[in-house]
Amino acid sequence: MTRLLVLGGSSFVGRALVEDGVGRGWDVTTFNRGLRDWAHPDAEHLHGDRLRPDDLAPLAARDWDVVADTWSGAPRAARDSATALAPRAARYLYVSSGSVYAPPPPVDGDEDAPTVDASPDAETTDYAADKRGAELAIAEAFGDRAVFARAGLILGPHEDVGRLPAWLLRMDRGGEVLAPGPPDRPLQYVDARDLAAWLLDCAANDRSGPFNVVSRSGAATMRTLLEACRDAVGTDAMFTWVDEPFVAEQGIEPWTELPCWLPRDDEYAGMLAAGVERAHGAGLRIRPLAETVGDTWAWLLSADKQPALRDDLPPHGLAPAKERAALAAWHSRR
Ligand SMILES: NC(=O)c1ccc[n+]([C@@H]2O[C@H](COP(=O)([O-])OP(=O)(O)OC[C@H]3O[C@@H](n4cnc5c(N)ncnc54)[C@H](OP(=O)(O)O)[C@@H]3O)[C@@H](O)[C@H]2O)c1
Repeated sequence: MTRLLVLGGSSFVGRALVEDGVGRGWDVTTFNRGLRDWAHPDAEHLHGDRLRPDDLAPLAARDWDVVADTWSGAPRAARDSATALAPRAARYLYVSSGSVYAPPPPVDGDEDAPTVDASPDAETTDYAADKRGAELAIAEAFGDRAVFARAGLILGPHEDVGRLPAWLLRMDRGGEVLAPGPPDRPLQYVDARDLAAWLLDCAANDRSGPFNVVSRSGAATMRTLLEACRDAVGTDAMFTWVDEPFVAEQGIEPWTELPCWLPRDDEYAGMLAAGVERAHGAGLRIRPLAETVGDTWAWLLSADKQPALRDDLPPHGLAPAKERAALAAWHSRR
């Protein structure tokens, strides 16, 4: 039976990896500090702090067919785990990020686009350098036995950033919704469950190297996302589409106050237009947007519309008073 070690494995993407692995009938073990409130009943759970290399010793004493890692802190922690596990683990799958590309990320850029400067030995620097530093560390230890899934926007049930939850909860309030235009603005995203399934398939198919792991740009748009949210919730929400200059004038923050949305001339706009043919050629399948949105709403309902979100990030979504003021300003000009 395939032995899968998930480093992390108790929050959003790690949880999807564990569930997918267990679903395949694999023998799944997680390693984390045990601080979260979720642990798969059919997996083995080992506890320790990966920032303390001694805690990795019990893992390094066992054989693993696949290691999956979602780490996004100091690269030296990825270096220590990869170095410790390399002698007895066959493959290392790392959930990386499109943030590794040097800004501005190119439109249609493939995996050869330039990356940020980073060191595999660094203590925490910034997110992009942390993710790239971890890639370098893992590549050093595992060479062509490693896969780097450079994910873009990740959505789906148990999302702890709060992007899709913010839009769904906004639809739930109903009424007039400030919708950032243009409506056909292309989006790129991946459902955490599709990311997990593709990544574990990579191990089974002996794939290696970096892959941009998101949907094809334009498979979803701002309009289809917001309509899917409204349909899932089933409310009377009505969209008032405003343009990009107006959003800027109102001091509304793209990406956080308007989750998943970036203006076309934003430095990071290429994050919603990555070249993804390598991953799609390697079997990446993105489930229908309505399923991602509907399942996320079902999860929110099961959490009484009060999901546990990360406390190290700003809240997502537009405050009701700010939205009302912006809508009034929009209408007063027309
Ligand atoms: N959200 C997005 O749109 C997006 C986009 C691109 C890429 N990504 C990537 O997607 C991944 C998201 O991963 P995720 O949701 O599974 O969560 P995560 O925040 O990367 O990892 C949290 C997991 O690591 C464990 N952990 C944290 N500190 C630890 C330590 N010192 N020692 C041992 N375990 C530790 C946590 O459990 P304990 O706290 O109990 O230890 C938990 O299981 C990240 O790699 C992120 O960079 C996200």
